[in-house]
Amino acid sequence: MFNKLLSQQLSEMENSGLKRFLRNVDCSPTSKIKLQGKDFINFSSNNYLDLAGDKEIEKKAINIIKIYGLSATSSRLVSGNISVHKGLEEKLALFKNKKACLVYPSGYQTNLGVISALISYQKDACIIMDKLNHASIWDGAKLSGSRIFVYKHCDMNSLEKVLKRAENYNLKLAITESVFSMDGDITPMKDFINLCQKYKAVSMVDEAHSTGVFGNQGKGLADTFGISDKIDIIIGTLSKAFALQGGFVCGSKTLIDFLINKCRSFIYTTAISPFLAAIAIETLEIIKKSDNRRETLYDNAKILKSKLIDLGFNIGKSESQIIPIITETVENTEKLSLHLLKNNIYTPSIKPPTVPNSKARIRISLTAGHSIKDIDLLVNALKLYKHNSTRL
Ligand SMILES: Cc1ncc(COP(=O)(O)O)c(C=O)c1O
Repeated sequence: MFNKLLSQQLSEMENSGLKRFLRNVDCSPTSKIKLQGKDFINFSSNNYLDLAGDKEIEKKAINIIKIYGLSATSSRLVSGNISVHKGLEEKLALFKNKKACLVYPSGYQTNLGVISALISYQKDACIIMDKLNHASIWDGAKLSGSRIFVYKHCDMNSLEKVLKRAENYNLKLAITESVFSMDGDITPMKDFINLCQKYKAVSMVDEAHSTGVFGNQGKGLADTFGISDKIDIIIGTLSKAFALQGGFVCGSKTLIDFLINKCRSFIYTTAISPFLAAIAIETLEIIKKSDNRRETLYDNAKILKSKLIDLGFNIGKSESQIIPIITETVENTEKLSLHLLKNNIYTPSIKPPTVPNSKARIRISLTAGHSIKDIDLLVNALKLYKHNSTRL
């Protein structure tokens, strides 16, 4: 009976082209990927600085494993609080220009836990969200059980209207991403912070896709705009430009102390592996010195964007290394993804509910590891797709 119900729902997803499936990857994915024994250029990873598989880091990792082993074996509050966790947190706090930091096993757990912990224990609190915030932010907001006000994507007039409507709440937590994960566009960060300050809202910015990529030494967009000190809570992840795994939150010492005491996704889980924490410290030093990699990434993005615009693709308002090709229908997105796959290019389709209905897309994610030749091959395959579709 139960399985029949699940099968029915799976069939419905399949019929509307929305069923997900796992694709087997036969290598460590970088700008290249091996799928079922065949090689593709990979435009789908968050390995922005091309540090996945970096030989210098791999060499250090072999020594690190001998010192720290693989597992923390318990929660940080039991016996899993290894000295290297504190070492990483101090360095990340400094990097983000904040007083303190707390590291989690994933970015998803960070958002889920931080938002729900901060809000669910307060009387008369609400959350104010950009409509296109990441699922982990939405899930944290829902878990908090509080009222959620939503403003139009990156629209500061809409944010102000919502802040006015929420004015009577005792505590308002306003949350945005600096670089949006599916659109690659950017929050008007200064306006966001000014409005938060004007209406006395606590500000939280998720820098998952800008850490390592933007700002002096890759400190993120808050650094670019010179507003790190004005943002109350900064979220980051170790799973994108760091090419590792884990998440972190930076803020005041009081904030971090509160989370250690109240944040369920921090308390009731095994600590991030000390092995990963130690590699993250090494990687952070490399990220800081990676201006060359950042320059290559910016150049790649500039070149690809101008070619896509010339070809007449809708790339939205991307201002970063994440470039969507919005095809609108799921059918068209599948068609384009398959066409690229036949041309040895891997860019999986992104469909609802990850993006809104009628906004299905290919999400091109560039890295410093992509060569001009890789980009030319992608552009040529897209040219062919345009040519074939106008002939139909
Ligand atoms: C904006 C944003 N925040 C958080 C996360 C979650 O990070 P992690 O992959 O480390 O769980 C993601 C992941 O895609 C993201 O895009």
